Amino acid sequence: MKLKDCIADFQISRYLHYMDNAATSLVPEPVIAAMNEYDRQYRANVGRGMHRLTRVATQKYQDAHDLVSNFIGGKEGTTVFTKNTTEAINMVAAGLDWQSGDRIVTTIFEHHSNLLPWLRLRQKGVELVVIRPDEAGIFDIEEFEEAITANTKLVAVSHASNVLGTVQPMREIADICKTQGAYFLVDGAQSVPHFPVDARRIGCDFLCFSGHKMLGPTGTGVLWMRDSLISPLILGGGTVEDVTTEFYSLTGGYQRFEGGTPNISGAIGLGQAVKYLENLGMDAIFRHEQELTERLLKGLPDIENITIYGPQDMKNRIGIVSFTIDRIHPHEIAYLLDERAAILVRSGDHCCIPLMKSLGLQNGTVRASFYMYNTQEEVDLLLETIEEIARIV
Ligand SMILES: Cc1ncc(COP(=O)(O)O)c(C=O)c1O
Repeated sequence: MKLKDCIADFQISRYLHYMDNAATSLVPEPVIAAMNEYDRQYRANVGRGMHRLTRVATQKYQDAHDLVSNFIGGKEGTTVFTKNTTEAINMVAAGLDWQSGDRIVTTIFEHHSNLLPWLRLRQKGVELVVIRPDEAGIFDIEEFEEAITANTKLVAVSHASNVLGTVQPMREIADICKTQGAYFLVDGAQSVPHFPVDARRIGCDFLCFSGHKMLGPTGTGVLWMRDSLISPLILGGGTVEDVTTEFYSLTGGYQRFEGGTPNISGAIGLGQAVKYLENLGMDAIFRHEQELTERLLKGLPDIENITIYGPQDMKNRIGIVSFTIDRIHPHEIAYLLDERAAILVRSGDHCCIPLMKSLGLQNGTVRASFYMYNTQEEVDLLLETIEEIARIV
């Protein structure tokens, strides 16, 4: 399918200009249809029993895992379905065996979901080191070389920033982690939906991302692991091989980490979302978003009183653009964009308060974030409306 033909699959796009894709994406009709089909035609629990509906549901649930594993080049690892990126990261924080004196290395760019779980581990005597970028917002790889020491147990870094749109050098960081024997967790919430990501090629141990940011339903996310590297957070139905009243042994595979009845229709929807993305082609999606971003970045500096955060060239960046206008609160800008032109963007701290503080921003930024259904015309409308709003002050 061509990108321009997919717009018809997103009903909201017909009457609103949705540019809040970094928060959650829209969902195409085939994903909605796949979820409805489960509820209408073969609704049953999975991995339990032998009747006809459970056999179909179990196969489709397994297929969804396989589709997602293949999508991220993670066939040989374990692909666990979670409810979002946040849950995936918390599962790693709860599931590794921490000792006092262990070190975790992360960056100031992180979403709270990739910071709070590590901050909490300080109660166990774990040291947290936070790397900061230079003035231009670029991390020096030498900073990682210095910070990742022999006692570093984990390095947790977002592949792409949800505020600045910058993409970090994952392979280089992975190499340093390997040399020092540290686990490497990649927060792929903003990368996996937007360009081809291959967990094996990166060389990470954990890759966490959200299904709802990549055309899947809300309540879906993924924790991919190179191996079964952690102990499961939740035990119960579906996770066991054998149990007595004194003892239990756990099953292998993703089932070990997915205790209780999962979000079955959500998983099936996520599988369908991955098929949809593959059908469009991740390279084509990335190229399209790059074109939109370049157009926006070209037009924004002409607007008076505007400040853009993050790189203004197209090197190592995705389709997320943050900006402020002097003397207008970001929430007011977002409200006016909606009222005047039905443009929906995010405003505020974007769950990155430490980054906002380091940028000296009390009220955060306005953030436009694109996906495959956004158009050049929408970017032009965004630029015109921002210009109008900037003239108010
Ligand atoms: C980089 C990054 N990490 C983690 C998250 C958390 O994702 P979720 O709310 O799906 O858990 C987000 C959400 O915006 C994000 O952008």
